[in-house]
Amino acid sequence: MRFLVIGAAGQVGQEFAKCMAPEDVTGLTHEDVEITDPSSVDACLKRVNCDVVVNLAAFHNVDECETDLPKAFVVNAIGAGLVARAAREKDCKVVYFSSDYVFGDNDRRRSPYFESDAVGPVNAYGVSKVAGEQLVRASTGNHLIVRSSSLFGVVTSKKGWTFPEMILERARTGEPLRVVNDQYMSPTYTADLVGAVIALVREGLTGTVHITNGGGCTWHEFATATLKAALIDYPIEAVSSDAFPSVARRPAYSRLDSERLDTSRVGQLRSWEDALRAYLIEKGVISRSS
Ligand SMILES: NC(=O)c1ccc[n+]([C@@H]2O[C@H](COP(=O)([O-])OP(=O)(O)OC[C@H]3O[C@@H](n4cnc5c(N)ncnc54)[C@H](OP(=O)(O)O)[C@@H]3O)[C@@H](O)[C@H]2O)c1
Repeated sequence: MRFLVIGAAGQVGQEFAKCMAPEDVTGLTHEDVEITDPSSVDACLKRVNCDVVVNLAAFHNVDECETDLPKAFVVNAIGAGLVARAAREKDCKVVYFSSDYVFGDNDRRRSPYFESDAVGPVNAYGVSKVAGEQLVRASTGNHLIVRSSSLFGVVTSKKGWTFPEMILERARTGEPLRVVNDQYMSPTYTADLVGAVIALVREGLTGTVHITNGGGCTWHEFATATLKAALIDYPIEAVSSDAFPSVARRPAYSRLDSERLDTSRVGQLRSWEDALRAYLIEKGVISRSS
């Protein structure tokens, strides 16, 4: 089964290249394809021989989505629809990456969201992802919509760091650390996420699936666990979200769980704590024996 990955230079895209044999995957960067331009999408898909189109291209700066609504919807929704339509015309499956931010409108909720839960985003990014999901569903039945959350991995996006890396760096350089303790999410290791997506596609799964590492925590708990696992003793002040005023509202609780992974051959992913440890080993921060 041959995969075409759009958004190949990003955090998740580079992980696909790491996880797959080169003959099984073709990666297209933003220089190769513009997903908001139908002729660019059609030309690229015609050129590449593939069975599965993975669309990772996104505008996911949550605050900028709030102030640039046209771009948020053109990339995250219309672009997603154009890719899904072109995939259908080529008889390919399309995989669209969505987010835990399609949920979160219930501030009092403290139980994870499953695939069967109704969406309810609290910001423009989340709404644009809901719209992207709907356009994908309306374009082709042969789709897999993957909702994931709070990604970390050894390869990074253009910004050049992931959350645990930023925490480690600040602790090493002695910068004060203040991290929010009132936003709950499911940290997810990109290597585990991509491995699961490839296996689910090969298994033939369609529809919507939540793929995150097991369990969940606040960003402060995630930061504390990172330093503890890296054997670094450094204080992290727990603060409320009010300490970091932002343009876009964030969900207080957007933990995901999956009722679909149980019935797949993939099963549930390992806990986020085990995944964090694997990440620190892969990064060379700790050894297997530490
Ligand atoms: N990162 C997270 O924590 C997280 C959590 C949940 C879900 N997701 C979703 O997972 C997917 C992958 O995320 P990621 O972290 O890998 O993002 P990323 O590192 O920003 O990678 C996205 C890639 O898509 C390219 N791209 C952006 N706009 C494009 C366009 N209009 N046409 C073609 N290519 C375009 C970008 O290129 P340029 O940078 O050159 O524009 C970038 O290389 C996204 O759908 C995201 O919403 C991410």
